[in-house]
Amino acid sequence: MYVMNQNQRRLVDPRCIPETLWDHRSGTLKLPQALAQVYIDLIDSKGIRSLALSRSPGEHPVGGISQEQTDKHFAQAFDGSAARMELAVLDPMDATSPSSNELIRSVLGHHVCIIEAPCGAGATAFSLLATIAELRAQRVLPRLPLDVVLIGADFSTYARDYAREVLGHMATTLEEQAVFVKGEFVPWDVTDKMSNTDLIQTITLRSARVNRRLLVVANFNGFLERNGNRKRSQAQLEELFRHVSGEGSFAIWIEPCMNRAIANGGLLRWICTLLGTSWKRFVRILGVNVSDDPIRTCFSHFKIPIDPDHTARVGLAIIGMQLSRSEK
Ligand SMILES: C[S@@+](CC[C@H](N)C(=O)[O-])C[C@H]1O[C@@H](n2cnc3c(N)ncnc32)[C@H](O)[C@@H]1O
Repeated sequence: MYVMNQNQRRLVDPRCIPETLWDHRSGTLKLPQALAQVYIDLIDSKGIRSLALSRSPGEHPVGGISQEQTDKHFAQAFDGSAARMELAVLDPMDATSPSSNELIRSVLGHHVCIIEAPCGAGATAFSLLATIAELRAQRVLPRLPLDVVLIGADFSTYARDYAREVLGHMATTLEEQAVFVKGEFVPWDVTDKMSNTDLIQTITLRSARVNRRLLVVANFNGFLERNGNRKRSQAQLEELFRHVSGEGSFAIWIEPCMNRAIANGGLLRWICTLLGTSWKRFVRILGVNVSDDPIRTCFSHFKIPIDPDHTARVGLAIIGMQLSRSEK
């Protein structure tokens, strides 16, 4: 059943989410099987299953420049980050629907450039693509040809290697659902203006012929909230958003739903302030009423792929932004 009438409030009605992605009875997310399997296979091929199973409550690995930090982040956070994006796309509790609709609209068909910065192992972008592929496989969305230019940018060479491997393993499943992905994973240091220029040049070159652009910033709180990194990154983030802006451009900023991201003074409140001031000319917040809080939140649980008898909690805080330009 196709549920994508533009007049409907939801492009994918929560009642039509297939059981392969959402257990309606218990209200539990399941990662798209193909993505869960790639994650398990990579965990095993790299010999990091025990690392994946030894998560400590309250510890949130955020990756980093070294192999060790990257392995730990992949082993312990890939599934949670993927679940967070799946929650944003499916929005089964009707909590973040403007962003859910725009995310789905971005990848319905034609030619899209998805930029995930930072990408890590690509959990967030691959979750979007794998969820869309599963919705197509279950005939909830039509199987229109979709060409994707995926640009992943990250500081860590090990993280970019992971992202390439995930794409290598996912490509066939995506292609079976007419999703054809060309990936490019480039070095990026958000605190460095020349590195940011390189990323922007890559985006400009690669997205010249696309009809939509989607900028995804996910789970960057851990880095940006340390050692004055927020201040050192502000100019580059503004430049990145400004350059991606234009007709057909949409962005989301996703963080775990924790006080330190959404409370006054937190990262997402800082983004809201920028949206109302220096980013005002190229960003429109997605929402129903002007008075709505731009930050939407929700919580769920997901089945842990390497320990399917158990679930973990996932919290989502999201700002959806139409990157459309306006006069002064
Ligand atoms: C928590 S991960 C998020 C990755 C991905 N968006 C996800 O949802 O899985 C944070 C990433 O930021 C990267 N990072 C750390 N410092 C950075 C910097 N200065 N510039 C760009 N990326 C950086 C790390 O290598 C890591 O992959």
